[in-house]
Amino acid sequence: MCGIIGIVGKAPVSERLVESLRRLEYRGYDSAGIAALIGGRIERRRAEGKLRNLEALLAEDPLEATVGIGHTRWATHGAPSVRNAHPQMAGRVAVVHNGIIENFAPLKAQLQAQGRHFESDTDTEVVAHLIDRELARGLEPVAAFKVALDQLSGAYALAVLVQGEESLVMGARRGSPLVVGEGQGEMFIGTDALGLGPFTNRIIHLDDGDFVAINHEGVRIFDRSGQKVDRALRVVPAASALVEKGNYRHFMEKEIHDQPDACQHTLSAYIDPISNTVASRGVDFAAIDRLQIVACGTASYAGMIGRYLFESLAGLQTDVEIASEFRYREPALRPGALALAISQSGETADTLAALRWCKERGIMTAALVNSPESTMAREVDVVFPTHAGPEIGVASTKAFTSQVAALTALAIAAARQRGRIDADEEARLAGVLLEAPRLIADAILDDGWIPAIAQDIAKARDVLYLGRGAMFPLALEGALKLKEISYIHAEGYAAGELKHGPIALVDEATPIIVIAPSDALFDKTSSNMSEVIARGGRVVLITDAQGATHAPDSVKTVIVPACDPLIAPLVFAVPIQVIAYQVAVLKGADVDQPRNLAKSVTVE
Ligand code: M6R
Repeated sequence: MCGIIGIVGKAPVSERLVESLRRLEYRGYDSAGIAALIGGRIERRRAEGKLRNLEALLAEDPLEATVGIGHTRWATHGAPSVRNAHPQMAGRVAVVHNGIIENFAPLKAQLQAQGRHFESDTDTEVVAHLIDRELARGLEPVAAFKVALDQLSGAYALAVLVQGEESLVMGARRGSPLVVGEGQGEMFIGTDALGLGPFTNRIIHLDDGDFVAINHEGVRIFDRSGQKVDRALRVVPAASALVEKGNYRHFMEKEIHDQPDACQHTLSAYIDPISNTVASRGVDFAAIDRLQIVACGTASYAGMIGRYLFESLAGLQTDVEIASEFRYREPALRPGALALAISQSGETADTLAALRWCKERGIMTAALVNSPESTMAREVDVVFPTHAGPEIGVASTKAFTSQVAALTALAIAAARQRGRIDADEEARLAGVLLEAPRLIADAILDDGWIPAIAQDIAKARDVLYLGRGAMFPLALEGALKLKEISYIHAEGYAAGELKHGPIALVDEATPIIVIAPSDALFDKTSSNMSEVIARGGRVVLITDAQGATHAPDSVKTVIVPACDPLIAPLVFAVPIQVIAYQVAVLKGADVDQPRNLAKSVTVE
């Protein structure tokens, strides 16, 4: 969940390390730090909290060097503090780390028994000690690094500086992402291509278990057994221009507005706009007897919407499970199934582990990912892309709607392959789906309803979201969005489940957001709304113009463009995002970097 960077440069590195950390700050922001080689010594600067605190420190106390490493932290072992900030040092070695060293406790006890003194509560410090111990035993740096790596279990990406080695940064990856970047007489390692974006787009993706040594001449790559190997260098699209906020106040606001484009780009990977045929990207859904979706958080709600579509359109049995549960039971999944991971980052630890579990059992794997170079994308049999562009706000918005758009397209393709619809119906449904970007844009423009409602919700302690059918996952998503960025307790429920418990929560102080397009389920949801109103509940109804005509006077309405039920999850996602965003802004919350969270959850 942390971001790491290492530079062997010709020009000063301090500012460039910070620039890269700024791009990686979405991964964690509990503390930040850099270390650099100066006249044969390692010096470091570390600050608790956001990167700006490190910048202020560097302004007072600069580091002048051309070789260095940097880190932005999402705390796992040890509270956020300067003492626990990375780089962690021991003797001649400085280390930055993303991941968790699971056996750090016995290693630490062993190192302490050998007289080594620890300064932090981190698992990372053991790595610095292990390397330093091997150096002290006379090994050269790469050999010392390998001996240390062989003792670690858990997940890690590391960048390492060694005192006395003026032109060397070492790195390793196992379970956490790390890439190498090639510049003009300079070399880089970092968490992802985005972090290296300002310096180079010539990127080498490492395999799991690889470790590397970069210097001014280039890179040496070794596999986990220590054999020297070559890995392909790719020129990735220059991402630098894509991660600016532009005129928006927050990335989340920008990313909400990016959604028409993001969906359009995503759909162009699936639908031929001339023939309105839908591609399944090489998968024969007729040959699949069961679809198992695994994902976490917002991506799992996209998966739940996908289930409605795959079952109703294509008659394909579909299960959705959060990856952290799936991976630790013994799912009765057999070859013949397709395991589909959904992930914006393509790096979420639990989702990746669930995929690997399936792969080991001979089950075909696919990943619906937004990061084409991610670990998931490289490990699965089939990649289904979303083209949302980099999503920086921790709260997922455009990645979610792009996932739903892609799943809708795939469900149409599956329906055609499985003989549930003919070519005319395929073309009709594709035409409906292609309208989604325009209707999403209309829903974004039409947010005049929301400020007064946001004022009301910002005062609440608890909020309930209700929905039926594909609006149920949206209710869950609405509650998650509100919780994560405004810190208001919120729950999403299936509207029909209300009477089985949650209705006891209804009182005048609890806003209830009902998501109900005027579709076949509208009357049922409307009855649940009446039950809430009869008990004094304050209802906000998100619906279309037709649905609004049925709203009692006491109900506040948010009206979105009328649309075909096929694309209602895409259009109705907009107001729930905008409500959460506006409430968070009213509450003065840190919208893009909410407390305790990180964009990419690469630890369990
Ligand atoms: O990168 P992923 O899509 O795998 O991430 C999954 C979740 O961590 C993510 O959707 C999370 O729930 C978001 N912060 C929600 O806005």
